[in-house]
Amino acid sequence: IKKVAVLTSGGDSPGMNAAIRSVVRTCSFHNIQCVGIYRGYQGMIEGDFKEMGPRSVHNIVNKGGTVLKSARSKEFMTVEGRKKAYDELIKAEIDAFVVIGGDGSFTGAEIFNKEFKFPVMGIPGTIDNDIFGTSHTLGYDTALNTVVECIDKIRDTASSHNRLFFVEVMGRDAGHIALNAGIGAGAEEILIPEEDLGLERLVESLRKSKAAGKSSSIVVIAEGDKIGKNVFELKDYVEANLPEYEVRVSVLGHMQRGGAPSCYDRVLASRLGVKAVESLLEGKSNFMVGMINDKVALTPLLQAIKGKTEIDRELLRVSEIMSV
Ligand code: F6P
Repeated sequence: IKKVAVLTSGGDSPGMNAAIRSVVRTCSFHNIQCVGIYRGYQGMIEGDFKEMGPRSVHNIVNKGGTVLKSARSKEFMTVEGRKKAYDELIKAEIDAFVVIGGDGSFTGAEIFNKEFKFPVMGIPGTIDNDIFGTSHTLGYDTALNTVVECIDKIRDTASSHNRLFFVEVMGRDAGHIALNAGIGAGAEEILIPEEDLGLERLVESLRKSKAAGKSSSIVVIAEGDKIGKNVFELKDYVEANLPEYEVRVSVLGHMQRGGAPSCYDRVLASRLGVKAVESLLEGKSNFMVGMINDKVALTPLLQAIKGKTEIDRELLRVSEIMSV
């Protein structure tokens, strides 16, 4: 392997830049060339490449977003699209690529590897932390800190007005952000996709909170929760059933995906980038690099895509006890 490409794909997450930097500098350390691919797989199809060296990634370890831009490419989901991408890689004499992204991006890489026997390596980048084969995905720790900071601020105004706040956080299919940031910020209730706590239980718990003399309450809701109502319908329902509460809704949205990466995410990105390139140089392919028991470890891409991450049920109990 003499030339490795790197791309970011799917939803961005803080720490992607630190991972790009790590891939580029590890290539340089081992005297091989590195090429950045812009706009994910779409840029691969269009040959939107740029040679990168150690100096072209200076001052990005601390930056949110991705300097290579990201995209979700429909064309790459077709055989024709992938063939075009393959031709572009061959034309540019690229021998392998590292894709930083989530399970959709890994699925693309996995199929591509099968079709063209092209060496690929994945680095998990998503704030949702829903990838099998790693305790942490890039951006998750930063997003947790962002959410906790926001909820702390919401708590100030909530308690000044004796209000109940529903705070919606990201997590289409996974409750890791809601559960951990919820506990970190002292939420009274946490609603997640993995568990249907039921409307009646929520209402009962809020009634108890009021009776226990709490001046304000925060309910953290993952966007993919199973309660069957969106956050605004939930507000109406609770106001109708608990008139003693004045409810406000705060949807945190994409701010959770931005911002400077935490130290944890920067170190994680640096470690995963080194391992991704060095694994390719050792002849390995079709793996994701992740953290297992605090050590960098490889998981077959297919397993990373198919495997389910579990929420830690102990956290549900901790949350319940903390909100007594
Ligand atoms: O995949 C990460 C994620 O943050 C999800 O939790 C969320 O539903 C989604 O991205 C939203 O992404 P976009 O607005 O880019 O489609």
